[in-house]
Amino acid sequence: MSRTYRISYIEGDGIGPEIFASARSVIEALGERFRIAFEFVPSPAGDGAKRMFGEAMPKSSYSIIRESDLCLKAPVGETALQTIIFLRQQLNLYANIRPAKNYRFIDSKFHGVDLVIARENTEDLYVSREFEENEGKKAIALKVVTEEASKRIARVAFEMALSREASRSPNDKETRKPSVVCVHKSNVLPKSDGLFLKSCDSVSRNFPSVKFSSMYVDTAAMNLVRNPESFDVIVTSNMYGDILSDEASQVVGGLGLAASGNIGNDFAVFEPVHGCAPDIAGKGIANPLSMLFSVKMMLDWLASKRSDDSCAKASRCLEASISFVGGSGVKTVDVGGNARTVEVTKAVCSEIGKQTGQLANDDNIGVVKEDVLLKW
Ligand code: IPM
Ligand code: MN
Repeated sequence: MSRTYRISYIEGDGIGPEIFASARSVIEALGERFRIAFEFVPSPAGDGAKRMFGEAMPKSSYSIIRESDLCLKAPVGETALQTIIFLRQQLNLYANIRPAKNYRFIDSKFHGVDLVIARENTEDLYVSREFEENEGKKAIALKVVTEEASKRIARVAFEMALSREASRSPNDKETRKPSVVCVHKSNVLPKSDGLFLKSCDSVSRNFPSVKFSSMYVDTAAMNLVRNPESFDVIVTSNMYGDILSDEASQVVGGLGLAASGNIGNDFAVFEPVHGCAPDIAGKGIANPLSMLFSVKMMLDWLASKRSDDSCAKASRCLEASISFVGGSGVKTVDVGGNARTVEVTKAVCSEIGKQTGQLANDDNIGVVKEDVLLKW
């Protein structure tokens, strides 16, 4: 058994605890099968924590998070600013990675979509600096863009384009060329968005094998519902990335599947893209897949950061198991099935058990052959 990975976790509010429980069972099943030791440490945060401890991010939770290897976070309610925005800023988690990909078991108007949004995660309007003038009759928000942060996210985007290319099958390599599209609005914001574009353009010169282009954000929003399969990596600033990632999730089947990773140099927080869905909380019908795909991103990150091949195998096994379970019709209501959260979870765990025999010595897993692993 390798070293122990210490996962701090935020169960969150609304459907949070239900989908987190699913993730935990699945991680335990994978840990057992691939002999990876995971330790779970609770770090309560969010609306519930605020009610209980008077703070949405109690100091004790923050220290637990800082002492862990990574954080797995379920959605929180009204306290996002004090929880996830706080963590992104304090821990300098500068890259928000949001994949959107078609799976055969999820109905979609589109086919062959496999894109990823690299959203700058520390600047732009998210610095939360607002001012009032005229006794509140005028409000001003600061949009901050620096060359350093723009180049940093651009490098992540280009490196991702290269690693995605490296893991494609020879056939896919013929039809899909690695590309990065910088999304901005420099016609209206020549200084701030202009700097973002200029920074991405300058980084692109170090990656001659990756096609670089740029697109205004309104055009990008349109093209995401016109020809989403034409995108590979999108790099953009914080607010546009927030909006476009919700849109991209709908293109491939909905927010119930949308996962993300907030990545810094040495630490990362993995979480679903969506909110805590109070309307269906406690009913046992929430889709756990956004959380399970976040676990997959967590495993990919560990595989790459810690050079841990067991995590790479566990990631492939998880994706294959989810595809198999979905393909056999065990899906929640939001994606056209009638299974409950725990039924999906149990089916995925049992599939993990079944797949392992072949997987332990086999890197070539049939079900996911054509799928692209996200690497860092
Ligand atoms: C997201 C969320 C957050 C954001 C909210 C909850 C502050 O929408 O992660 O996309 O705007 O970044
Ligand atoms: Mn959002």
